[in-house]
Amino acid sequence: MSDLGHVAWPPELIRTERLVLREPEARYRTTFIELRASPEVHTYLGGPRPRDELERGTPEVPERWPGSFVVELDGTMIGQILLRRAVGHRRPVAAGKADLGYLFLPKAWGRGYAAEACAAALDWFDGVVPGEPVVLTTQSANVASMRLAAKLGFTEVERFHAWDAEQWLGLRPPAM
Ligand SMILES: CC(C)(COP(=O)(O)OP(=O)(O)OC[C@H]1O[C@@H](n2cnc3c(N)ncnc32)[C@H](O)[C@@H]1OP(=O)(O)O)[C@@H](O)C(=O)NCCC(=O)NCCS
Repeated sequence: MSDLGHVAWPPELIRTERLVLREPEARYRTTFIELRASPEVHTYLGGPRPRDELERGTPEVPERWPGSFVVELDGTMIGQILLRRAVGHRRPVAAGKADLGYLFLPKAWGRGYAAEACAAALDWFDGVVPGEPVVLTTQSANVASMRLAAKLGFTEVERFHAWDAEQWLGLRPPAM
C-alpha cells in the first residue's frame, strides 16, 4: 500500500450530519494506540499489537499522510478511515487501485457512524480523483464490515484465501 500521492491535502474539514473528518494531529495519538491495541477491533485483522510496543513505536503525530482521516464525534476521535493505493495487492484486479479501509472504536459501533463517515470520505475521493473505482478487502467472516461495504456501494469481485481466512474483494465503480 502507498498513500494517494498528489491530491490536495489536507482537505478542508469534512462535516457530515454528526461527524467531522480531518487529518491526524498529535492529540489523537492515545486513541490511535487504543485502536491498534484493541482485540475487538483486530478480530478480523490479524490480532492486536502489544500496547507497550505501540507506546514506543507510535510517532507523535500518527498516520499523517494523504488519504488518512481521523473521524471525530463531538471533538473526540472515534475511528480512522484509510484511502490508499493498493500497490502490490495480491489480486491483479485490485493492484494499483484506490483502496478503502476503516477502523472504529467498539464503543462507536452500531450507530451508523462508520457508514456516515466512509460515505463522506468516498465523496471527497470522487471530488479529488474523479472517475476512479475504489476497492476494499475484508474477511468474509467480518459481518459488520461486509454490511458496511454493501451499504457504501461495493459489490463482490471475487473471494480469495489469504492470511488464514477467506477474503472478500469488493469494488465500487467510479461515480458518474
Ligand atoms: C467494520 C466497522 C467499521 C463497522 O462498524 P458499524 O458501526 O457496525 O457500521 P455502521 O456505521 O454501518 O453501523 C451499523 C449499524 O448502526 C445502526 N445504526 C444505529 N443508528 C444509526 C443511524 N443513525 N444511521 C445509520 N445506522 C444506524 C444500524 O442498525 C446499522 O446496522 P445494520 O448494518 O444492521 O443496518 C466496525 O465493526 C469496525 O471498526 N471493526 C473493526 C475494524 C475492521 O474490521 N475493519 C474492516 C477492515 S477494512
